[in-house]
Amino acid sequence: MTVPMLEIRNLSKFFPIRNAFGRHTGDVRAVDDVSFSIERGAVYGLAGESGSGKSTIARMIMGLETPTSGEIRIDGESIASSFGTRAHGKKVQMVFQNPGSSLNPRRTVGQSVAVPLDAHGHPGRDRARRISELLEMVQLPANFAERFPHELSGGQKQRVAIARALAVAPKLLVLDEPTSALDVSVQARVIDLLVDLGRRLDLTFLFISHDLSLMRNFAGRVGILYRGKIVETGPTSDVFVDPQHDYTRLLLASVPVISAEEEAMRPKIPLIDGEIPTAEKLIEIRALNTKNSFNEEQPG
Ligand SMILES: Nc1ncnc2c1ncn2[C@@H]1O[C@H](COP(=O)(O)OP(=O)(O)O)[C@@H](O)[C@H]1O
Ligand SMILES: [Mg+2]
Repeated sequence: MTVPMLEIRNLSKFFPIRNAFGRHTGDVRAVDDVSFSIERGAVYGLAGESGSGKSTIARMIMGLETPTSGEIRIDGESIASSFGTRAHGKKVQMVFQNPGSSLNPRRTVGQSVAVPLDAHGHPGRDRARRISELLEMVQLPANFAERFPHELSGGQKQRVAIARALAVAPKLLVLDEPTSALDVSVQARVIDLLVDLGRRLDLTFLFISHDLSLMRNFAGRVGILYRGKIVETGPTSDVFVDPQHDYTRLLLASVPVISAEEEAMRPKIPLIDGEIPTAEKLIEIRALNTKNSFNEEQPG
């Protein structure tokens, strides 16, 4: 048996809540006993609405946040031991949601891509060649190295952020809502690029999004995160065809519909003011409906 590229076991992160006097009055259970693993070369999709704990998981994998409890292993090695080291940075890199704010506006594209090369002691004489190679990987012309972020579109900026993440040839890429700030057509092209890079460079991906529909053609397995817990996990096609959890059905209901058959398969979710209600609201509505139908059955 091979060691998974990423293994997360019983991972939790609680943030303390303090009152006006600084007294600890409780915890936000941002991540609550989460376990999953990703095989080498696989794409795992982590989906859940805003506030479900996705970014906190990503930040712990990157070593930007310390777990309250649990374990994270990358390529068989616990990150507690490689925390903040170069070795950790060489194994895993992250692409953030907003390409605009993750690139320094005063640096050229080439300078931005060179930052991790410097940090990892890449030989200077080889740098220009490596930068054009990285730009080519993300399908940008080599002369983009001279441009500044404000001269690029959102999709191009995100390609630069991907090139920068690939600079030190990591094995695992954590993508935290990498396409959420982009137009739908641009989103699809960035996903195509990621699929292509994954194959060519033998990468493993943790793909995080509130949008389950993006996982369909990209992730082999998905995990559905709700209030810090994974409520459902399995092969993507199984989860799409036969969701087991109410919350997954809710997320699927917001997936754009492609065909008439899919429309027919779509679970019926009541809309409130034209919006899909939050899971809590939905549970509230269900409880109300059950109560009402109960009342109707009681004569007089
Ligand atoms: N540094 C922090 N201090 C306190 N609460 C936090 C902190 N970071 C995140 N949280 C809380 O943890 C929960 C999960 O947040 P987050 O991981 O950002 O969710 P997501 O990425 O799914 O939107 C939210 O309730 C958020 O308010
Ligand atoms: Mg987030």
